[in-house]
Amino acid sequence: MKFVLKSFGCQMNKLDSALVTSAMKQAGFEVSDSPVESDVVIINTCSVRQHAEERVLSHLGHLKHIRKSRPGLVVAVMGCMAQRMGEELLANEAVDIVCGPGQIDKLPELIQQRLEKKAKHLAVAEKIRAKVEESEAQGLEEFEVANDLTEDQLPGQAYVRAMRGCNKFCTYCVVPYVRGPEASRPPESIISQIKHLRDQGIKLVTLLGQTIDSYSYTENGKKWGLAELLEGASAVEGIEWVRFITSYPTDLDDSILAAMAGNPKVCKYLHLPAQSGSDKILKAMNRTYTSGQYLELLTKAREMVPGIAIAGDFIVGFCGESDEDFEATVSLVQKARYKSCYIFKYSPRPGTTAEKRLEDDVPEDVKKARNTRLLEVQSLISEEDNGRLVGRRMRVLVEGPSKKAHLDKSSQDVDHKQLISRTGEDYIVVFNGPAQLAGQFAQVKITKASALTLFGEL
Ligand code: SAH
Ligand code: SF4
Ligand code: F3S
Repeated sequence: MKFVLKSFGCQMNKLDSALVTSAMKQAGFEVSDSPVESDVVIINTCSVRQHAEERVLSHLGHLKHIRKSRPGLVVAVMGCMAQRMGEELLANEAVDIVCGPGQIDKLPELIQQRLEKKAKHLAVAEKIRAKVEESEAQGLEEFEVANDLTEDQLPGQAYVRAMRGCNKFCTYCVVPYVRGPEASRPPESIISQIKHLRDQGIKLVTLLGQTIDSYSYTENGKKWGLAELLEGASAVEGIEWVRFITSYPTDLDDSILAAMAGNPKVCKYLHLPAQSGSDKILKAMNRTYTSGQYLELLTKAREMVPGIAIAGDFIVGFCGESDEDFEATVSLVQKARYKSCYIFKYSPRPGTTAEKRLEDDVPEDVKKARNTRLLEVQSLISEEDNGRLVGRRMRVLVEGPSKKAHLDKSSQDVDHKQLISRTGEDYIVVFNGPAQLAGQFAQVKITKASALTLFGEL
C-alpha cells in the first residue's frame, strides 16, 4: 500500500507530518509522491488565514476528481483545519477521515479501518480548550517519542516540539482554538529525543512552541524554563546548534538572553513577533505590551547578546487600523531593524474574539498597499543590514543544492554545485561547493549581499 502526505502549514504542522509519515511506514505503508499512484492521501492543514484553508479546499476538489478513476482511494485530512471544521469537512465528498492535531496517534489505525471499508471517521477534540485527558496526553507523548522526527527534513536538522497549544488568545488568532491549551513536554523526553536525533547525525535542533519562551516544567523538584532546556539540549554531545521559535515578547526573560550570549551552541536568532507598532491596535489584539516596551526589549537583547539577529511578524489591516496606526507600525519596523520580517494581511478567523466583536473594516486594497509598503521598508533595511556582512567569514550549515539559480551558472561544474546554507542567525548563504556538503558545516566568506540572500565563497 502506498501513501502520499502533503503539508499546508507551519513548522509545528510539518513536525506532525514527519511523525505521521514515520508511523505510516512502521505500519507497513510505502511513501509515494503522487496521489494518482497512491492508496491513501493525507493532507495536513492550516487554519491561520483564510487563504491557507482555500488552498486545502481547492486541493480537495482536485482529489475528488482523482477519486472518480480511483474509487478506493482513502483521503484523510489532519491538522488545524480538521479540528476547526470537523463534521463540515467530513461531509466533503472527497474526505474519508478528519483527524485533529491531538488525535494524530490514532491516524494510521483509522486509515487501516477505512481501507477495510469501515465508515467515514471523525477524530477531533470535542472540547478543544478542556484539559487533555491523562490517557490521551500519554498516547500523544508516546507517539511523539516512538516516531522518527527526521522524515522529510533538511539533512542534519530536525525540529523538536517543546510545547503544545497556546494560552495567549491574541484576538485575531485561531491557534488556541485548534491546538488547545498550552502544555510543556517533559524535558527528559525532549532531551532523550535529541540524543536519538544526534545518533542519526542531526547537528541542528530547533525547539518548537507557539510561545516557546514561556516553556515551564517541574521535574523531580527542578524547575525548567527555556534557558534550562537550551542548556540541556546543547549539552548533548554531537549537537552543535540549538535554536528556538517562536517567542512572545513579555515572556522573554534575561535567563534566555544570557543562554544565547554565553552558550556558543545556542544560536543568536530570535523570532519575536510584534504584530503592530500602534499601542491602540496592540491592545485590540490582546498583545500585552506597548511598542515602547517592545523596542526596549530589543535594545536589551542587543546589549546582552551582541550579534543577535531578530526577525518579526506583523499583521497589517487589523480591525480599526487607521493610517496613523499603520504609520506607527512603519516607524516600529524602521527602529527595530529586523534581519527579516513576515508580513500578513489580516484575515478574520471564525470563532476568534476579533471575528466576533470587531469589524474587519480595512478594505482589501488598503491591506494590500500597506503590506507592500511595509515589505519595501523592511527590504531596504535587510539590504543594508546584509551589506554589512560582506567580507565576513561565517559558519554555515549546508541544506543542499539550490533549486533556483542565484549565482553565475558558468562557475558551477560537476564538483561544485550551487548550495543553499544558513548561518546560526538564520541568514541564507548561497555558494558553490561539493554536493556532499549537504548536512555539514562549512566556513564561507561573504562576497555579496541582497535583501534576501547572502552570497559567498567556500
Ligand atoms: N505563535 C506564534 C505564531 C502564530 S501564527 C506567535 O505568536 O508569534 C504565525 C503568524 O501568523 C503570527 O505571528 C501572525 O503574524 C500571523 N497571523 C495569525 N493569525 C492571523 C490572522 N488571523 N490574519 C493574519 N495573520 C495572522
Ligand atoms: Fe496565536 Fe497569539 Fe498564541 Fe501566537 S501567541 S499562537 S499569535 S494566540
Ligand atoms: Fe500552524 Fe496553521 Fe495550525 S500556523 S499551528 S498549522 S493554524
